[in-house]
Amino acid sequence: MKLVIAADHGGVELKDLLVKRLGEAGHEVEDLGTHGSDSVDYPDFAFKAARKVSRGEVPLGILVCGTGIGMSIAANKVRKIRCAHVCTVEQAKLAAEHNHANMLALGGRTTDEETAWEAVQVWLQTPKGGDRHKRRVDKIDAGPSDSE
Ligand code: RB5
Repeated sequence: MKLVIAADHGGVELKDLLVKRLGEAGHEVEDLGTHGSDSVDYPDFAFKAARKVSRGEVPLGILVCGTGIGMSIAANKVRKIRCAHVCTVEQAKLAAEHNHANMLALGGRTTDEETAWEAVQVWLQTPKGGDRHKRRVDKIDAGPSDSE
């Protein structure tokens, strides 16, 4: 699977671990940084990665910041992005099955490495749910009507 990944300084250690493990597992990972512990602004990295997914250059992306919250908020501003902030393996499974999440946001300071790695694997392996899930996801992608 081809993936893009990005982090800020709060998520760089977990991001580097995920890059290594994903590579070992045979995935093709484009690492957009950050590299190192210097303080950076997470929206810059979220937007860069999310735009690649939005443009169809890569099907899926992973974002890591201290909590995963800021990255997910920023990524979801980008057209066609359904970024799920997950803290558990179960949430990662449901993000794929119910929400067809094309990006996953994780917290480097809030989720331990093994849980994060398992969550990523489960998210990648879980098929998108059909029927009622697709209907709801299509509504998200269409956005709210003017009257709402
Ligand atoms: C950076 O200190 C921190 O705010 C960031 O990594 C993230 O947790 C934001 O949501």
